[in-house]
Amino acid sequence: MCGIVAYVGGRQAYPVILKGLKRLEYRGYDSSGVALLDEELAVYKKKGKVAALEDSLVGKALQSRIGIGHTRWATHGEPSDRNAHPHLSASGKLAMIHNGIIENYAQLKQELLKKGYVFHSDTDTEVLLNFIDDIRENNHCSVEEAVRIALKRVVGAYVIVILDRDHPDTLIAARKGSPLVIGIGKGEHFLASDASPIIEYTKEVVYINDYELAIIRPDELILKNLGNETITPYVQKLDLELAAIEKGGFDHFMIKEIFEQPHTIFDCLRGRLELEQGRIRMKGVEEHMDRLMKADRIIIVACGTSWHAGLVAEYLFEELCRIPVEVEYASEFRYRNPVIRPGDVIIAISQSGETADTLVAIEKAKEQGALIFGVLNVVGSSIARASHAGAYTHAGPEIGVASTKAFTAQLAVLTMMAIKLGMEKGSIDAVRARHLLSELAEIPEKVRQLLENTEDIKRIALKYSKARDFLYLGRGYNFPVALEGALKLKEISYIHAEGYPAAEMKHGPIALVDDQLPVVFIATRDAYHEKIISNIQEIKARRGKVIAVVSEGDMVIPQMADDVIFVPSADEVVAPLLSVIPMQLLAYHIGVELGLDVDKPRNLAKSVTVE
Ligand code: M6R
Repeated sequence: MCGIVAYVGGRQAYPVILKGLKRLEYRGYDSSGVALLDEELAVYKKKGKVAALEDSLVGKALQSRIGIGHTRWATHGEPSDRNAHPHLSASGKLAMIHNGIIENYAQLKQELLKKGYVFHSDTDTEVLLNFIDDIRENNHCSVEEAVRIALKRVVGAYVIVILDRDHPDTLIAARKGSPLVIGIGKGEHFLASDASPIIEYTKEVVYINDYELAIIRPDELILKNLGNETITPYVQKLDLELAAIEKGGFDHFMIKEIFEQPHTIFDCLRGRLELEQGRIRMKGVEEHMDRLMKADRIIIVACGTSWHAGLVAEYLFEELCRIPVEVEYASEFRYRNPVIRPGDVIIAISQSGETADTLVAIEKAKEQGALIFGVLNVVGSSIARASHAGAYTHAGPEIGVASTKAFTAQLAVLTMMAIKLGMEKGSIDAVRARHLLSELAEIPEKVRQLLENTEDIKRIALKYSKARDFLYLGRGYNFPVALEGALKLKEISYIHAEGYPAAEMKHGPIALVDDQLPVVFIATRDAYHEKIISNIQEIKARRGKVIAVVSEGDMVIPQMADDVIFVPSADEVVAPLLSVIPMQLLAYHIGVELGLDVDKPRNLAKSVTVE
């Protein structure tokens, strides 16, 4: 949530920052801004996407070897020029960018108002900045010292980067609960919310930890904790290529990422699924096998699409491992007083590894002795570092705000994990295990086949793009896919959609059905096939329009449905890996047909680092 970029070194800062902001725009695009320091400290900001800022600065001489930039997802204060970052302190000496929320900002603001401060925005950021500057002036101390003192009083999550008019070669940064990466170049440093703005300049990076403060100059990076003790930076090598964060000839990141799925699922299985030996190798699982096998209960915590992957996992672990599973919205779990027992295992699922609710939820569970296992995409992310063990999904950077390839990679990891545990526990026999392994191994090729012909999905998207509402229905493993289909459509097209278990529909949502309502049935062949056929009949009897996703070779449902999408046949355990792809494509093509920005849907951001 919000993207930050900063630079100090020998280059012109503005082009580096602008390019970085474009890469981070997926984190928020309500407004953007830069602060540059040459002879003067100058701040430029604009409501809207980064392109609006860029246009407003055409023709300006923006000389500076140091600068900070920000792309905002609004929390405190509406999207506007005045609420855009960077903010300037009342003294005019400091400019600051911030990602996160200062929870006690109202109290700090009252204190500053009493001292006569006047605020020019509605943001918590301007309050924190003036709080820091006030400490600096009153204590006659350095900005670094003022930050240290201020942060001891701050409640909330933050990454801040400060540019000080009196120190044109120094940036001060600090973090708690939001990500910050520092790229180390030759005589230069790059700061960003993730590695994408840094990758083309250097592969050497340092991830800043919570409660750490960095003093950054062209040739120097000093890390300290809030107690002013120096910490040795841990320099890591980035395993990321520039091509992975570019569109590569596709119109949008979302469609590129949908089409990457044969490879991303393959990459996820590679080195883990050993078909010939009939086994799965997962280091994170093996290291904690005893605890996982003896788990009294698995609690899955996640948000959004990752929560839907968790729901599929509930079916997987209960069926294949006979372990009871609860799937929790991280945001609810963290504020409840959940009963967590020593025998519980928590699985945290997150693409970004930065989702604030998920992070806090696992920290709470950890305090109570649970084993935390992360299923994560971003290497070195906050949740990865807070977990005891885990498995990466290896889907590569996901830039489209709507999650696609990360979801299928999560399913691949969770399916492997469930099969492996089931085999170890003996809750699935060798024949079934072998069958599932080969079904899983065939998925990348089946996804490739499915993506070979998407014309029908485009046609259906066009036909229903003016609908006001959609209903998505599925049973068993395909129920979470129905939820995911509805979420994708809402996010990308702004069309109201609801996902429901197909059988539950008659307890309420059926009242919505009329001859205008498209109802998407995810009805691939499984144990409930006859049942879902009855549900389709119930919709047809009320003149609803049925769009059915069915297995190749199905001769029955195509006779009843208005429109049909075929997917390759597969065992129901792995079917969601296939049936979700038409959901992604349907949402994408409807969004494009409606002329919407599918990569950056309104009001959303990729990493939700605020609660
Ligand atoms: O990074 P995470 O997987 O933790 O993110 C969770 C949700 O914010 C995310 O899945 C969100 O729902 C996506 N926009 C869905 O497309």
